[in-house]
Amino acid sequence: MNTTFSKIGFILAVAGSAVGLGNAWKFPTMVGQNGGGAFIMLFIALTLAVGFVIFLCELYIGKKSQLDPVGAYYKLASKNKKLWSLVGFTMIGALLIVSFYSVIIGWIVYYIYFSIKTLFSFASFNTDIKQNELIFNNLLSNDLTSVIICFSIVFFMSFYIVSKGVKNGIEKMNVFMMPALFILLLLMLIYSMNIDGFFKACEFLFYPDFSKLNENSILNALGLACFSLSIGAGSIITYSASLPKKTNFISSTLYIVFINLLVGLMMGLIVFSFIFEFGANSNEQGAGLIFISLTSLFAKLGILGSILAILFFIALFFAGITSAVSMIEPFCFFLINRFSFSRKKALILIGFIVYFLGICCILQGRIFDILDYISSNIIMPLGAFFATIFVGYFIKKEDLYAEFSPYLKKSLFELWYFFARVIAPLAVIIIAFFNFYKG
Ligand code: PFF
Repeated sequence: MNTTFSKIGFILAVAGSAVGLGNAWKFPTMVGQNGGGAFIMLFIALTLAVGFVIFLCELYIGKKSQLDPVGAYYKLASKNKKLWSLVGFTMIGALLIVSFYSVIIGWIVYYIYFSIKTLFSFASFNTDIKQNELIFNNLLSNDLTSVIICFSIVFFMSFYIVSKGVKNGIEKMNVFMMPALFILLLLMLIYSMNIDGFFKACEFLFYPDFSKLNENSILNALGLACFSLSIGAGSIITYSASLPKKTNFISSTLYIVFINLLVGLMMGLIVFSFIFEFGANSNEQGAGLIFISLTSLFAKLGILGSILAILFFIALFFAGITSAVSMIEPFCFFLINRFSFSRKKALILIGFIVYFLGICCILQGRIFDILDYISSNIIMPLGAFFATIFVGYFIKKEDLYAEFSPYLKKSLFELWYFFARVIAPLAVIIIAFFNFYKG
């Protein structure tokens, strides 16, 4: 058994897992590409109707079993235990994600370093977007040593944190980094409020134009809602195994979902205030938006821009590393429980796999895309789907209600139960099917 979190530690750790590059990067990009406010409303609705519902299923599985995902399904299933425990192996998805995710955090580390250099005039971002595109592409294709060094820093840091365990490593880091992330974003938001682009950003993000939505937007919003809440990869089950007793897990989940949405919106406001102020392209893709457009905009502000860039990239770094750690812990916890590995031995084994895959991603962009595709479009939807089916159809309703009743009225419990049995699994099947079909 792992040690337990403190109540606030649990909320911050799970919020740390949820808030990540998904909010900082996928969210603003998708909002930009799907026409702004209408997409946000859709995202919020699906986060509540699907994300929140499945999140509670996974939380129940972890809380009740107090085990890693494989052990948890094995323990809770009343029949076909071995078959159900296979579902727990969807936590392999988290290992695939952390391999390429750490490469991206590595780019962020490089941009923190570069921004610090610009502050002392040893380097400069360019005000011309084309030039910054060159800097970024040059980093990825010609400066592999820097990319590997930065990836290695991220790798060692996240494994070091996990090696310290749930309480002294994961909780401590989140209790520091999550408030720090919030303060950094708040500072940037206050700055953004003082530029003209802020009003356009508000209009863009909060004024819904439903004509811009199509079936693709629905699929994107649903995929993002699941990815963003870290559903289907074993992280929520694993962290919930360390939930302190007598925690109101319904209100904790609401806080987590709220923090996740809030950070996405803050990121969106910051990014689009700059984009509209300086007239860059709001349709830009993820890497382009953050590493190319935004850096050009920071460059226009001179020294102040360098400071803003440093704050922004440190905030992204915190968001990323707290999520990366949550992807390593499930497999580590599994090896400790199942094979009585020491934490260190488990991490050495996982470390080899993740480091190897990460280096493959750096050397071969196609591997990066394949890992992203397999984990986000296949493994995570499978994990999420089976979690709701398991809780909805294979756990006795009385057992569920016994856990939920101290914190949830009967009528709301029934509503959640209906969503867990019908709406959420259907929604996941639909995204998985269409994403697969689109290829
Ligand atoms: N929720 C994280 C993000 O939005 O970046 C990504 C993530 C974390 C996915 C943990 C899966 C996971 F197990």
